[in-house]
Amino acid sequence: MPALTDTFTLSNDVTIPKIGFGTWQIPDGPETYDSVRAALDAGYRHIDTARAYGNEASVGRAVRDSGIPREEIFITTKCPAEVKDAAGARHAFERSTAKLDLGTVDLYLIHAPWPWNAIGSDHRAGNIEVWKVFEELYEAGRTRSIGVSNFDVDDLESLTAATSVVPHANQDRGILVEGYSPLATGRLLGDRDIAAIAEKYGRSVAQVSIRYLLQKDVLPLPKSTTPSRIVENADVDFELTPEDVSALDALNSGGH
Ligand code: A2P
Repeated sequence: MPALTDTFTLSNDVTIPKIGFGTWQIPDGPETYDSVRAALDAGYRHIDTARAYGNEASVGRAVRDSGIPREEIFITTKCPAEVKDAAGARHAFERSTAKLDLGTVDLYLIHAPWPWNAIGSDHRAGNIEVWKVFEELYEAGRTRSIGVSNFDVDDLESLTAATSVVPHANQDRGILVEGYSPLATGRLLGDRDIAAIAEKYGRSVAQVSIRYLLQKDVLPLPKSTTPSRIVENADVDFELTPEDVSALDALNSGGH
């Protein structure tokens, strides 16, 4: 299935499979383990986790047990949003890599520019401090690429003005954009406008939503614990017409 094996190329020439398997809100233990195994069986080669999801150990175990060579799987994890100092960032990385037990991480992200209980608060200095640790980890080869998540353009600009490695993933200026919750955590599935478009292609709303992101060069991270949906979400080798992409753009700007 080309959508699963096709790759985007990050600014440092590291390649990343175009669809990632999202694991946010999948509980640690058998649910994460079985879902990741199902995703790998379905051909996914990119798994997205985070320290905050609490499921890194199960992700790591599923990857190791799959028998698929480590270098064929792209693993993203994230430094907790609450960590805004160098010592905390070093500790978080060691915790994540120990839990994953997969050697090198492929992409390490700052989970958010601010702690989740203080969205919008100013942590520019802290983010710079954390990012400098990310640069060390990258230079040392402990992670193959580094990036940010949930950063807006201002957050990103204050970071890049004070540091040397431009994030390999987030948004804007040659930085790959990843879309977490491409199904709006399930809320899109009942959208009648998307359903009308999906019907024309004989596809599901989930498939159209995921395909739309790919056509916008955004890397989707669909999450499911249902094996048939895990397969469905990667079966997106069809092409939306430019008219339908525009129609979907219009839904977006309408605040859906
Ligand atoms: P489940 O895990 O029970 O399969 P997002 O990727 O935007 O976070 O959305 C995840 C939510 O959407 C989950 O509740 C998941 O349910 C549901 N979901 C994922 N893929 C599909 C699909 N193809 N059809 C219907 N629901 C889906």
